[in-house]
Amino acid sequence: MRTGVWLVGARGSVATTSIVGGLALRANLAGPTGCVTELPELRGPALPAFADLVFGGHDVVTTPLAKRAEALAAAGVLPGRLVAALPDELAAVEEELRPAPGGGTQADRAAATSRDLTDFRDRHRLDRVVVVNVSATEPAVRPHPAHADLGALREALSGPDEVLPASSLYAYAALEAGCPYIDFTPSTGARLPALHALAVERGLPYVGHDGKTGETLVKSVLAPMFAMRHLQVRSWSGLNLLGGGDGANLADPAANAAKVESKQRVLGETLGYVPQGDTRIDFVEDLGDFKTAWDLVTFAGFLGTRMRMEFTWHGCDSALAAPLVLDLARLTAAAHAAGRSGPLAELAFFFKDPLGAPTHSLAEQWALLTDFARALHTAWGSADGPAR
Ligand SMILES: NC(=O)c1ccc[n+]([C@@H]2O[C@H](COP(=O)([O-])OP(=O)(O)OC[C@H]3O[C@@H](n4cnc5c(N)ncnc54)[C@H](O)[C@@H]3O)[C@@H](O)[C@H]2O)c1
Repeated sequence: MRTGVWLVGARGSVATTSIVGGLALRANLAGPTGCVTELPELRGPALPAFADLVFGGHDVVTTPLAKRAEALAAAGVLPGRLVAALPDELAAVEEELRPAPGGGTQADRAAATSRDLTDFRDRHRLDRVVVVNVSATEPAVRPHPAHADLGALREALSGPDEVLPASSLYAYAALEAGCPYIDFTPSTGARLPALHALAVERGLPYVGHDGKTGETLVKSVLAPMFAMRHLQVRSWSGLNLLGGGDGANLADPAANAAKVESKQRVLGETLGYVPQGDTRIDFVEDLGDFKTAWDLVTFAGFLGTRMRMEFTWHGCDSALAAPLVLDLARLTAAAHAAGRSGPLAELAFFFKDPLGAPTHSLAEQWALLTDFARALHTAWGSADGPAR
């Protein structure tokens, strides 16, 4: 199943790491550590192989992909030997990167974006193209009446106003071009009633929001533990320190607020109450792509006895995110091939703030995911399964 993976923010750290990783896996230069779709519980014939993935994307900057990859290797994010071994493959992906469409109305820009997607699909004779947003986090969207209705949205996009934030305009263009849409960021993306209607109308799945790769991943394991032992979490405070492009962008208070909101949701949803404390994200340029998160939890046990725990997480953000981007592309492509449309709640496992999430507990999300993969593989083998 030849599958295009179109990355919005294609020259960023997460996208570059995903591309180099995908090319290295295809060339058998690296193993799939970190890719959950290669675990026995998920692996199977319904997923496109790594060799079937073809990369392309949009960005607002023009830094050559090979230069980005070399910079990430110099920073210790990517192994330098992989970047050095893949010059032709990286040059081929460079040919598939396009500038983010600009000028005109939002309808014009959406049409140009859709054209880039359909041209890519046709040029490579792809069965489908999955669009993944890994661009800079946006501030929370300003409400607009056209967000509620597809007809009103189409009309408004042709007017002079900026009706949609960039992530949602990409989602609109992707859906119009017949492409499933994945949002790895906390931005609004397809999370608007008008875009949901478009996805259902076109029979397309969409997935999000905000990849769960570090502190929130640990929270989604620990919070159910406190709940199941009937321990009362009194406060949970987290301090995240990071550099890189993501860290610099999150120095903007509006983008920072959108990210913090996405990170805090797991506690209220899992515990059934919101303990004291906040999550902070601070930009420390020197840390680059390596993030440190320090969390302090205070809790009460039997007869009110007070206790506390702390943890420190030192993660390489792009190395944690990239295998999940590849997993999400494979699973969403398989879901599309199986005829699924609308939000895929079964992929909640991957997200901090999952769409249509029935649960925030990582263990329950894992059960949903493995059932989902099993059903996809079973349908693939049956007479009425999807065609390759
Ligand atoms: N790394 C992680 O663990 C992780 C986890 C969850 C979410 N995320 C999210 O993934 C996103 C990417 O992170 P990163 O570290 O790669 O950031 P980055 O700053 O390195 O890359 C972002 C890229 O997006 C591009 N961009 C900005 N606006 C654009 C637009 N309108 N159209 C096209 N491209 C645009 C930038 O030029 C840049 O190349 C961020 O939103 C981040 O919050 C990352």
